[in-house]
Amino acid sequence: MLLPAAMALALFVAVPLSADAADAPDANVPTALAKGQALFNTNCSVCHGVGARGTKQGPPFLDKIYEPNHHADSAFYRAAEMGVRAHHWRFGDMPKIPGVTRDDLTQIIAYIRWLQKQAGIF
Ligand code: HEC
Repeated sequence: MLLPAAMALALFVAVPLSADAADAPDANVPTALAKGQALFNTNCSVCHGVGARGTKQGPPFLDKIYEPNHHADSAFYRAAEMGVRAHHWRFGDMPKIPGVTRDDLTQIIAYIRWLQKQAGIF
């Protein structure tokens, strides 16, 4: 039976998501970060989730391992520009994201750092 197997797999993959992600507050995004949020939603949220809470296709950024001391901003530029080979999770590789400029990434990162602060990650 293919379907239940696929569902079981989906549940299995969802388990490593951090508890922090689910507890993230729905705070209002400051105006200065609105562009970063829009860019994140267009280019990243399909895998990393709305509010960076993660999906079945990618990890949440509201997790300790992505705080600035573990994954500096340079890791975010590199991820989008070069892609990421799966190493922390079971989601598979992240492809490089074409059409996102360094300037866009600066705004996206500012938004992600703000979300992380709101969630008490750092
Ligand atoms: C097609 C799905 C997908 C999209 C779209 C995506 N990512 Fe990812 N990303 C992943 C997956 C999967 C991983 C986890 C790889 C691992 O560590 O196992 C990841 C990991 C990362 C990491 C961690 C890199 C590291 O060094 O461990 C960063 C940073 C990141 N993504 C940033 C972004 C940003 C910024 C965007 C939007 C511009 C984005 N991602 C869009 C799937 C995606």
